[in-house]
Amino acid sequence: MDTTSVWRGTARGPGFALLQGDVQCDVLVVGGGITGVTTALLLAGQGRKVVLLEADEIGSGATGHSTGNLYVTTSQGLADIASRWDAAVAREVVARRKAAIDFIEVQSRQLPQVLFTRCPLVLYVREASGQDRVEQERRALAAAGCLVRMEDTLPAGLPPPVGPALVLDDQAQLQPQAYVAALAQRAAQAGVSVHEHSRVIDLDRASRTASTASGSVRAGEIVLATHSPKGFHLVQAEMPVHREYAVAFEAGAADPGAGIYWWQGDEGLSIRMLSHEGQRYLIAVGPEQKTGTHNAKAALMAVEHIATSHLEPGRAVFRWSAQNYRSHDGLPSIGRDHTGCFVATGFSTDGLTWGTVAAQAIAAELAGRQDAFAERCAPGRFTPVKGAGALAEETATTAKALAQGWLTRGQHEKLASLAVGDSAIVVAEGESFAAYRAPDGELFAVSPVCTHLGCKVRWNSVETSWDCPCHGSRFRPDGTVIEGPALTPLRRKQLQMG
Ligand SMILES: Cc1cc2nc3c(=O)[nH]c(=O)nc-3n(C[C@H](O)[C@H](O)[C@H](O)COP(=O)(O)OP(=O)(O)OC[C@H]3O[C@@H](n4cnc5c(N)ncnc54)[C@H](O)[C@@H]3O)c2cc1C
Ligand code: FES
Repeated sequence: MDTTSVWRGTARGPGFALLQGDVQCDVLVVGGGITGVTTALLLAGQGRKVVLLEADEIGSGATGHSTGNLYVTTSQGLADIASRWDAAVAREVVARRKAAIDFIEVQSRQLPQVLFTRCPLVLYVREASGQDRVEQERRALAAAGCLVRMEDTLPAGLPPPVGPALVLDDQAQLQPQAYVAALAQRAAQAGVSVHEHSRVIDLDRASRTASTASGSVRAGEIVLATHSPKGFHLVQAEMPVHREYAVAFEAGAADPGAGIYWWQGDEGLSIRMLSHEGQRYLIAVGPEQKTGTHNAKAALMAVEHIATSHLEPGRAVFRWSAQNYRSHDGLPSIGRDHTGCFVATGFSTDGLTWGTVAAQAIAAELAGRQDAFAERCAPGRFTPVKGAGALAEETATTAKALAQGWLTRGQHEKLASLAVGDSAIVVAEGESFAAYRAPDGELFAVSPVCTHLGCKVRWNSVETSWDCPCHGSRFRPDGTVIEGPALTPLRRKQLQMG
C-alpha cells in the first residue's frame, strides 16, 4: 500500500547530497526531523560548525507524517501534567510550548508554502461519560493562565458534541513537511552541512564518531535527534511506543474550517483541514495502537470507517501511519544521556512543539545558559510515582514480547507456499526466520530477532515492515532499519528453497 502522507505528497524536499568521506565538526546532529533541523539551525546561529546526517530525506520521519498542529497543551492533557506534577509545572509547560510556537511562527514568515495559520483548538466528547475530562482540562488550562471558553455548538460538518466543547484560541497549524524542508534550506544557507540518505550505522560515543556507509563524522558534541535515541538508553525502558493511522480525504461536504478538532472517546478522531492547489483535504487521525501488537490494516480501516460514517468526506486520497514515544511522566526527555550525547525523545504526539523546545534547550545548554525546565526534563530523571503507569505498561509489553516471541512453531511447508504479499515466521535450515514474498516474487528471509535488545519482530501489513513491540524498532523486509533505537539491520539469510 502507498503510505505517502498528505504532507510529503504535496511538498517537495530540498534535496541534499550524501555524506562522502571523513569530516570533523563542532556538533553532529543525527536526524532531519523538526528536532534535528531546528537544533542545527540554532547552533549554526551560534557560529558553530555543524553537520546534519539524515538517514532518508528531511522530514521523512514522524515530522512529515504528523498532523501539523501546534498547541500549548498536550495530547494527554494539561490536567494530566498538573495531576502528575503540579500547577507550576503545568504553567511552565504552557510557557515553553507557547514560546516554541511563537518561534515557529517567526520562522514561517515569508514562507507561504508552510501555511502557518493561527486557529482554535476544539476539544469535545460524544459520550456524557467523557465530559469530566473536558471540564478537568478547562480547569487546568485556566489555572495555567490560558484563555479558554466553552461552546455549545461546533462548526458545521463536525459530529455534534455531548455537553459543551472546550475552545482554546490562538493555537496554530502548518504544513510540517514544508516547514522542516524550508528550515533545512535555511540551516544550509547558515553554513550547516546537511546530508540526506546518510544513515548512521555505527556510533562510537567515546570518540564522538558516527559512521555511515560512505563516510564518517567526528564531532565535539553529538545530538541524537532520531525520535528515539539510537542504541541502549534507560529512557527506552520507560517509553510505551504506539503507531497512529491517518487518512486524508477530499473534503467534500465535510469542512469545519481552520482549527484543531479533537473529538475524544470511543470512535474519537483528530480532524483538521488542508488546502493545496485548489483542493481541500480533510485529515483524520485515529487513536494510537501499540507498535507490533495490532493488526495494522484493521487499524487503518477503522479510521477510514469512523471518518466516513460521521463526517461525509469525499474520496480517501492519502493513507499513512507514524510512531510516537510517550514519556513515563508526561514530560519529554531532553538533554545529555549517560554517555554525554544529547537526546530528545518522549514527545508523545506533541513533538512538533516539544522538538522545537528541545532544540532551544540543547542550543541554550551548549551556549552555557542554565535552563531550569530542561533540567526537569533530564533523560536520567527517575520519577517512579509520576510515571508508574507507563513504566508498568512498557515492562509488561517487553516481558510479553520476550516470552511469546519464541513460541512460534516451525512452518516449513508455509515457506515453500508463501504467496506473493504473504509473510510468516518460519523455521528453515534449523533456524527461525521472518519471511516475506514481495510482489515480484522475491523471497526475503531475515532473522526475527530485533538487533536492539532481542525481542521478536511482528509483521506490519500496511507498511510492509517487521516491527518490534518492545521499543519500536522497525525494519524493511530485507532487514534494513527504518526507525527506532536499533542501529544494525536484521541479519539476512539466503534460503535455498522458495
Ligand atoms: C500520527 C501522528 C500525528 C502527530 N501529530 C502531531 C501534531 O499535530 N503536532 C505535534 O506537535 N506533534 C505531532 N506528532 C508528533 C510529532 O510528529 C513528533 O513528535 C515529531 O515529529 C518528532 O520530531 P523529531 O525530529 O524528533 O523526529 P522525526 O521527525 O522522526 O525525525 C527523526 C529523523 O531521524 C532520522 N534518523 C533515524 N535514525 C537515523 C540514523 N541512524 N542516521 C541518520 N538519521 C536517522 C529519521 O530518518 C528521521 O527523519 C504526531 C505523531 C504521530 C505519530
Ligand atoms: S526495539 Fe528494543 S528490542 Fe526491539
